[in-house]
Formats: sequence, C-alpha cells, structure tokens
Amino acid sequence: MSQLIKKVAVIGAGTMGGGIAAHAANAGLPVVLLDMAPTALTPEEHAKGLTLESKVVRDRIVNSLFDRVKKARPAALFTPERAQQVTVGNLEDGLGLIADADWIVEAIVEQLEPKRALMAQIEQVRKPGSIVSSNTSGIPIAAIAEGRSDEFRQYFLGTHFFNPPRYLYLLEVIPTLDTLPQVVETIWDFADQQLGKGVVIAKDRPNFIANRIGTYAGQITVQHALQHGYSVEEVDSLTGELIGHPRTATFRLFDLVGIDVPVHVTRNLYNAIPDDEEREVFRLPEVLEQMVARGWLGNKAGIGFYKQAKGASGKEFWPLNLQTMEHEPPKKPRFEMVGKARKIEDLAERLRFIMDNADMDRAGQFLRETTLRMMAYTSRRIPGITEYIADVDKAMRWGFGWALGPFEIWDARSRSGTRWASARPSPRCGSAGSPPRRGSRRCSTRATSRSTSARAGASSACTIRRPASISRWSRPPA
Ligand code: NAI
Repeated sequence: MSQLIKKVAVIGAGTMGGGIAAHAANAGLPVVLLDMAPTALTPEEHAKGLTLESKVVRDRIVNSLFDRVKKARPAALFTPERAQQVTVGNLEDGLGLIADADWIVEAIVEQLEPKRALMAQIEQVRKPGSIVSSNTSGIPIAAIAEGRSDEFRQYFLGTHFFNPPRYLYLLEVIPTLDTLPQVVETIWDFADQQLGKGVVIAKDRPNFIANRIGTYAGQITVQHALQHGYSVEEVDSLTGELIGHPRTATFRLFDLVGIDVPVHVTRNLYNAIPDDEEREVFRLPEVLEQMVARGWLGNKAGIGFYKQAKGASGKEFWPLNLQTMEHEPPKKPRFEMVGKARKIEDLAERLRFIMDNADMDRAGQFLRETTLRMMAYTSRRIPGITEYIADVDKAMRWGFGWALGPFEIWDARSRSGTRWASARPSPRCGSAGSPPRRGSRRCSTRATSRSTSARAGASSACTIRRPASISRWSRPPA
C-alpha cells in the first residue's frame, strides 16, 4: 500500500536538487532544501566583518543556488509564489528540518563516499518509515546505503530525474534488493500523480536504462564520425529530426548539456562495466578529452563543438573540425538520401526508406551502421538493465526525447515479421491488442496524472501494476 508524502526534503541545491525542490513545490508540498555551509569567507563578507558563524554566511551557498532556481529559464517553478513553499538551510544547522520529511532526496556531488557519509547523517535524524532516495546518475544504489540499518535500506532506493526535472518526463526508479515493494509503489504513485512523471523501473546496473543506451548511442556516433571522416555538421544533419531525435542531434546536444557532463558519465560507465562486450565503445575519444582540457565545455563556456563567430553573413555558428581542432565557417551538408527521406512525413516509413536505401550515399551508410549497432547493443542489455523492452523504449522517449525507442525502431524497420514493441503489457502502455504479460502488470485505464506540469514526450497516462515482489527487478543479470 502506498504511503502519503506530505513533506519533501532535498539535499544538494545544484542543478538537479534545485530543480527537484522546485518541482516538489510545484506539486503544492512544503519542501526543505539544504546545501553545504561555506568553509571560507568571501572578500565582501570579510569586509563587512562577518564570520563563518554568521547566519547569512552559513546559508550563502544555498541562498545563491536557490536564487538561480527562481530565475531559471525555462522556469523551474510554476509561479514565483511557489518559492515560498521552500525552506532553505545549510546541512550543519538545518539537518533537523528533514526529521519530519516523508521523502528525502539526495542530489549532491556524484561521488560514492560523500553520498555514503550523507546517508549516515540522514539516518541520525530521519523518522522511521520516511523514504530516502539518491538522484545519482550511475553510482550503484545499494552501495550508497551500505552500512545503514536494515530499516533504512528497506526505505532506500534510486530516483533518477532528468534535467531539467520540471520538464523531462522520465523518472527512473531503482529499487535495491532490500527496498520494500510499498516504497517503490509510494514513489511511483507520487511521481505519477503529483509530479506528473513517467516512471520506469530500472535495475541497479551502471547508468540504469536511458543513460546506458543514450551514452552508447552518443559514443558510436562520435566514433563513427571520427573513423570515417564525417563532419560535425554532417552528423548533426543526420542524427536530429530526420531520425526522430530532438533538433539538438548529437554535437549540439553535447554543447547544450556541457561537454564535461557526458565525459564524466562515460568515464564512470567505462570503469563500471568491465564485462561489457562493447566496453571499448565507452573509452573516451581523444577529441572529447582535449575539449575538456581546453575548457571547451559547450554553451556554458561559449565554445564547444560550435562557437559563435563573425562571418560573411554576420553572426554565425562555426563547427569544430574534428581533425584539425579548429572551428571553421559553416558548410551546409548535402546528401541525396536525406533530401529524399525528408519528403517522407511518417517517421516509421522514413526510417524504413533510409535503411532500405542505405547504400545510396554516405548518409545512409552512417545511419545504417549506427542505428543497427545501437539496436543490437540495446537488445543484448535485456534482461540486464530491465526485463521489459517497452520500458527501454519509454526511457529513451521520455528521457532523451526520441520519437521512437530502439525496439519501436526495430518494428518500424520490419514491414512484417518481428514486432518487438508490440509485446507490451497493455493498450495504453503499448500497442493495441498486445498479449497480457504473465500475471504481473496491468494497465489501468484511468488517467492518473493530475499534475499540470509540462510533460515533454508524454504519451501515456497509464498505471502499471507492479508485481508483489519488486526486488526481483533489481537482481543483477545471470
Ligand atoms: P551540482 O554540482 O549542480 O550540485 C551538487 C550540489 O551538491 C552543489 O550545490 C554542492 O554544493 C552540493 N554538495 C556537494 N557535496 C556535498 C555534500 N557532501 N553535502 C551536501 N551538499 C553537497 O550537481 P548536479 O548536476 O545537480 O548533480 C547532482 C546529482 O544528480 C549527481 O549525483 C548527478 O550525477 C545527478 N544527476 C545530474 C544530472 C544533470 O544533468 N546534471 C542529471 C541526472 C542526475
């Protein structure tokens, strides 16, 4: 049975913590948002005669981070007034504020030891039965709760929001072997009904579902471009709307999220998957290492795979030449196959056309190679990352904004024969007429999401009933 969540606490007020706190406030709940107390005075604080004991100094980090949340564009809060529901504080003085929270979410630095240490602190003050979760992108969830009591671990799980939390529809929920089914159910219902999220249950495997597949797709795209001499503009013209991905395609997406973020995620993933048959795909290409070393971190640094420059036609975006590491004036890529494919409105038909005509030119060859590899790799991750192929499709649609998930692309590819994605549990969760899954999941027809939050990519309002034993979903693959 689901518990009630009436108060939320978020620890770590950065990009994700700030966004999660704002979205919980959007849902109408009181929220506590904590971050670290500073360890040094700024010159201005010094000049004013303040000390590290002054309240204004101790809350400086969290206050300035929450100011950023209030000014975020696109807006993190539904209305400016929602900010009043958030009480901010520093971890040293304000830890007691989380004592009566029903759900405590950790969103601090992506390192195991600080997260573990924080869990020990939380355990000192939390009320029994309160749910504690980590927003880690890839650290094993069970490892974060190691050393904690049995009761703590029963109420502990992963809740992986996507950035920005208000807008991206996906929430990956990651139970451990110890997590109680009712805890998963509570978070599922709360996320679905109050936060307006699409929940996918992932196993506690490196980078869960969306980032495991998304990182693989990004890496093979970059590597194929480097090995076969495709330019940044060529790749972006092929890997965006043409194939049902967001307009940011590949390299513009790197620039948007910040090059250091995927670099960090990919490096961690490489170290976490020694037995992956394609582990070398996750070895960082030299170009990415060099860009981080040069501080070319994308939009936040004003330079990445593209940089703004003054060109013949005024303000232009110059792409990086991957061979020379120089930004050059833009050249519009032209491919015969792309010209023809663009005229096909229906995405499934367009993808079929691309695959069937892949030998027409370099564009087709690129897309065939990278798409088939992505589909093959994804199929081999079942049941490692999840037992439900529909959940992989949902994760890629809801978290990465793909119009079709890997198995749906597979279906689109074959005119007849294999129908992977249709082997889904219900009409609303999948396609009509699909066979019921053996004794486990049912889709209710009631529309469960009452949230008014933006639902990027949302296409389903169904509730999937979970099997009695959630923990079996978290077992590592045989
Ligand atoms: P961030 O660097 O923007 O914010 C982290 C915050 O935690 C900072 O405000 C920092 O002062 C605070 N902090 C660091 N160590 C702390 C400690 N020991 N105790 C208390 N506060 C501490 O990081 P971001 O991007 O918000 O990431 C937070 C978590 O969310 C990480 O685990 C990350 O992997 C995960 N994540 C990040 C996503 C992203 O797009 N940035 C997406 C999904 C998950």
